Amino acid sequence: MVDSVETPAHEIIIARTEQEIQQCYDVRIAVFHVEQKFPLETEIDEFDRSPHATHFLLRLIPSLTPIGCIRVVKRPDASYYKLTRLVVLRDYRRFRFGRALVQTLHDWAKADALSAGATGSIQVVLHSQLHAKGFYAKFGYLPEGAEFDEDGDPHQKMVLRLPLEPSVNVQT
Ligand SMILES: CC(C)(COP(=O)(O)OP(=O)(O)OC[C@H]1O[C@@H](n2cnc3c(N)ncnc32)[C@H](O)[C@@H]1OP(=O)(O)O)[C@@H](O)C(=O)NCCC(=O)NCCS
Repeated sequence: MVDSVETPAHEIIIARTEQEIQQCYDVRIAVFHVEQKFPLETEIDEFDRSPHATHFLLRLIPSLTPIGCIRVVKRPDASYYKLTRLVVLRDYRRFRFGRALVQTLHDWAKADALSAGATGSIQVVLHSQLHAKGFYAKFGYLPEGAEFDEDGDPHQKMVLRLPLEPSVNVQT
């Protein structure tokens, strides 16, 4: 257990090596399979070894102990970015690490879209477990459509439109 109220020193990196990507899988399995009881067979999916997935790893410094991750998928035939596989290990929740991971994904998606010549805004889509809807709502994600079953558990599609240019604050 973390016995301090101070946020542990940490970093978020893009997982590039096999070891770093495996560490993402390990924290996902610890949370989605061991804690939440989702099937192990579906945890590693077709996007994991595709070139269309980017994995971000949250780890403590200086120990480099993995404590969370998030994955973004951008298929070449899709106009949207998909936020997937967000986890923070149970002992490290409520330190705003989930928020930092989502923000990192948003920043990466915006930079990726801008480098591909996009203008205006991008859409980020996710399938939220019902308990996490309030978490995603804090970023402005809105529910779209009815709840549906995914891997045996109810989920809600949520969508966010992210402007590519900083919003202008007009002082009156
Ligand atoms: C969802 C999860 C990633 C949140 O991570 P976290 O590090 O605990 O969240 P944060 O500390 O960054 O919280 C950011 C804000 O969201 C709020 N929040 C956190 N979890 C929430 C929840 N389940 N519902 C509503 N609000 C939530 C926090 O209070 C905080 O609010 P504030 O910024 O106004 O103070 C984490 O609970 C987790 O890993 N859960 C298990 C895996 C999971 O369910 N992933 C989502 C799959 S869809």
